[in-house]
Amino acid sequence: MRIGILGSGLMGGTLGAIFARAGHEVVFTYARHQAKLKRLAQEVGGSARAGTPRDAAEAADTLLLAVHWRRVDDVLSQAGDLSQKVVITCSLPMNASNSVLVIGHTSSGAEELAKKLPKAKVVCAFNTIPSEALFGVYEARRRVRRPSLVYCGDDHGAKEVTAGLIRDVGFDSVDAGPLRVARYTEPFALLVAQLAYQGRGGPELAYRFERFERN
Ligand SMILES: NC(=O)c1ccc[n+]([C@@H]2O[C@H](COP(=O)([O-])OP(=O)(O)OC[C@H]3O[C@@H](n4cnc5c(N)ncnc54)[C@H](OP(=O)(O)O)[C@@H]3O)[C@@H](O)[C@H]2O)c1
Repeated sequence: MRIGILGSGLMGGTLGAIFARAGHEVVFTYARHQAKLKRLAQEVGGSARAGTPRDAAEAADTLLLAVHWRRVDDVLSQAGDLSQKVVITCSLPMNASNSVLVIGHTSSGAEELAKKLPKAKVVCAFNTIPSEALFGVYEARRRVRRPSLVYCGDDHGAKEVTAGLIRDVGFDSVDAGPLRVARYTEPFALLVAQLAYQGRGGPELAYRFERFERN
């Protein structure tokens, strides 16, 4: 696939590199310096290249949105028309200091994004894991048991595209349901990040997951 990366930082840079290694044509866009995008594309090699959000929107069928919440409107206005495109968002709706979610419980960043882009096919994925996890997971692809990653969205085709990319990265994909499920996964992502970064002395989280079989 042709994949445009809107925001080439920790998440966009790492995922873009993995997508390219998996054989996709990747355009890295949106960093403070064009030289960084060129360096990323060079390091990845193959058909990866640096471009602008507008280039990505025109050339790619699928876009990864990976910018801070405050930069979403800016990158979208630079990208232009995203009608009919699959837009996978890993952007969490965080405040400026990244300490709290500014949207939660009754909506989510993913749902608000879908309102901004009514003609695009928005899927929420990759935001439930810290970016560091991506480095090792790709290497684990050949292991029998792979970790799972959830995604949600309302468009069936866009979800299939996303599930394929999740598998390319090295996870098993778990369809969590419609886009409104993002209002539950986004707060979960924040808890996971707090656990990962604060370590001892940070919040404690106990979760019990049960598998419910249908009769
Ligand atoms: N990092 C994680 O572990 C993680 C996990 C789950 C979800 N997320 C979410 O994913 C999104 C991206 O996170 P991230 O950690 O990848 O952020 P990041 O490393 O800061 O990347 C953001 C990208 O936006 C670019 N950018 C920032 N300001 C800009 C400006 N004024 N003009 C042009 N480009 C600009 C940055 O440019 P530079 O490259 O020049 O800095 C960078 O390429 C966030 O919404 C975050 O909540 C992150």
